[in-house]
Amino acid sequence: MILVVGGTGRLGRALVPMLVEAGHQVRVMARGASQPFPGTTGDGVELLRGDLASDEDCRKAVAGCTAAVFAASGFGIKDSDPKTVDRDGAIRLVRAAADAGVEHVVMMSMHGAAADGPIEFLRCKAAAEDSVRASGMVWTIIRLGALLEQRLANMTAPLESKGKVMVFGSGRAPVTYTSVKDAAALIVRAVSDPVLRNRVIEWGSATATANEVAEAVLVRAAHGAVQRIPTVAERVLSVAARPFSPFLARVAGAGIWEESGGMAFQWGPPRAEFPDIPVTGLQQVLEH
Ligand SMILES: NC(=O)c1ccc[n+]([C@@H]2O[C@H](COP(=O)([O-])OP(=O)(O)OC[C@H]3O[C@@H](n4cnc5c(N)ncnc54)[C@H](OP(=O)(O)O)[C@@H]3O)[C@@H](O)[C@H]2O)c1
Repeated sequence: MILVVGGTGRLGRALVPMLVEAGHQVRVMARGASQPFPGTTGDGVELLRGDLASDEDCRKAVAGCTAAVFAASGFGIKDSDPKTVDRDGAIRLVRAAADAGVEHVVMMSMHGAAADGPIEFLRCKAAAEDSVRASGMVWTIIRLGALLEQRLANMTAPLESKGKVMVFGSGRAPVTYTSVKDAAALIVRAVSDPVLRNRVIEWGSATATANEVAEAVLVRAAHGAVQRIPTVAERVLSVAARPFSPFLARVAGAGIWEESGGMAFQWGPPRAEFPDIPVTGLQQVLEH
């Protein structure tokens, strides 16, 4: 049995059917709060409503599992946050997994994760990474770039209603994106291939600037225009929004990090080792 924590999220929804297709029994854990919780599932999938804030829920989630994939996050949830989910929730889950005799944990992280990283999310991911390294279990840490499908959804949200595609900052900084399809394929590989054990691997699918992504979206939509949120506004929001919308403040903070060029990395070299994992680019996602 493989536990997918956050199995109802953007990545989790792509991963679960791929694990089943690869012959695994899967247990999905989520609260059913930020994402709809499925009423029923197909063969091979067990559903568990549970909260990473609860020791008991974490114990129930890992019981009988040989592997656990941590694909939950609080970054994009308005009434949650990375400290609660990506750091403390991950640490609680890893502790429960080690106590229950789970053999392998796959921890989803992000390029740039570091104890002294420029944004809280990266510092939380570093703490989660530390917890799996120290757990005594076999581990795989997968550091993604920004999820391409999520970025497209955010940028194009006002396209139909207002004819706008949102670009934060100058839009000129390179960003390495990872498609959920590619990330899910790598996770499926990680749970079965010993080559991926006790390794940190950074996984990207394409590098583009926000201006390039916006241009591709507008060409495909054949209507609309860019709406820019200036960098100076992001700087103000990253501080001023903290008391009334920590969510807005962290999104603005991530935008400032993006502007520094820190969200781009060389994704080709790790890819060369796994040529069978798909490389899904911007055009493919847009055409899907
Ligand atoms: N999105 C990105 O650009 C990006 C970049 C790098 C790394 N990552 C990492 O990749 C993984 C997948 O990201 P994603 O974008 O697919 O996430 P997502 O769409 O935001 O989904 C988050 C998932 O976590 C669950 N969750 C949140 N709080 C929870 C809690 N307290 N207890 C149990 N489940 C909880 C959510 O369901 P409920 O709220 O209903 O519980 C949902 O299933 C995450 O670990 C994320 O940090 C993402």
